[in-house]
Amino acid sequence: MLRHFVQILDFSSEELERIMELTALLKRADKEGACPRLLQGASLGMIFEEPSTRTRVSFEVAMTKLGGHALYLRPGEIHLGARESIKDTARVVSRMVDVIEARTLKHQTVLDLAKYATVPVINGLTDFNHPTQVLCDVFTMTEHAPKDKKLRDLHLVFVGDATNVCVSLMFICARLGISFTQAAPAKYQVSQAHRDMVKEACAASGARLAFTDDPAAAVADADFIYTDLWWWIGQEDEIPERREAFMPKFQVNEALLAKAPATARFMHCLPASRGVEATDEVMDGSQSVIYDQSENRLHTEKALLVWFVYPRLKRASDALLAHHRGLVEAFLG
Ligand code: CP
Repeated sequence: MLRHFVQILDFSSEELERIMELTALLKRADKEGACPRLLQGASLGMIFEEPSTRTRVSFEVAMTKLGGHALYLRPGEIHLGARESIKDTARVVSRMVDVIEARTLKHQTVLDLAKYATVPVINGLTDFNHPTQVLCDVFTMTEHAPKDKKLRDLHLVFVGDATNVCVSLMFICARLGISFTQAAPAKYQVSQAHRDMVKEACAASGARLAFTDDPAAAVADADFIYTDLWWWIGQEDEIPERREAFMPKFQVNEALLAKAPATARFMHCLPASRGVEATDEVMDGSQSVIYDQSENRLHTEKALLVWFVYPRLKRASDALLAHHRGLVEAFLG
């Protein structure tokens, strides 16, 4: 059965842990300058309806390092949704590439691409979720967790708005048994509908979820403190109201960090509004792991590409390659 990476909850804890083990293997190989060219000759179609630095660069570089090729496809440059249906775009692009990554304004667009594509589709962020980011985040947590703690012992405290990253973090914590707290004004906390989506996952994994408007109390036993933008593209009209709701109580600054254990690490998916949801002192401080997170996007994308594409690639024998080369050379005279 063709599988896509559009939603964390579509994957079991065992599968997510296996992909993170693969990420570790590929990261180690990369550090030794020995990234295996497992996807030689393969192609990745990258659809971006919104701007991106980390997602775009990490997927393109990952594909290149694995021996493949990536195409950057923007609305206006391809017909997606404008002069051609999503169905036709998905069907056509699938005939030419081995995997599709898509960042779309609406989650439904990624769902439609996955419905009609005949190759795996990887969600590179929608208005609902950001699964590649949070898989990378948990991998980063494994690298920076206190030595005596396993994933199930960790507590991630998200301070800020219920963004797509926040919701996805709740999903992956629920799946993997990591305790998750969101500290935000009540109006900006994760919706009940999204909380209901993880009830079964929490029951199975033992993950504890909490929602509070008291960030100082929330971080008291945090292993990781995470924040994200307080407003995104399209929310410009709400900036004064949002700033009023979050500032200063929900800003991750040195005063808030001082209320957490000294071993706590600071995380941000980036891009950030420095001086808004987090201060320079925290972002550049000794407890910050934000650039490790960014780098790990590369290693996570490599693992995802290998996980989804490698088993599907046709690998011709040297004899078959020579046979076809001979036929073409004979034709050319
Ligand atoms: N975190 C993240 O997805 O960054 P980009 O928007 O730069 O891809």
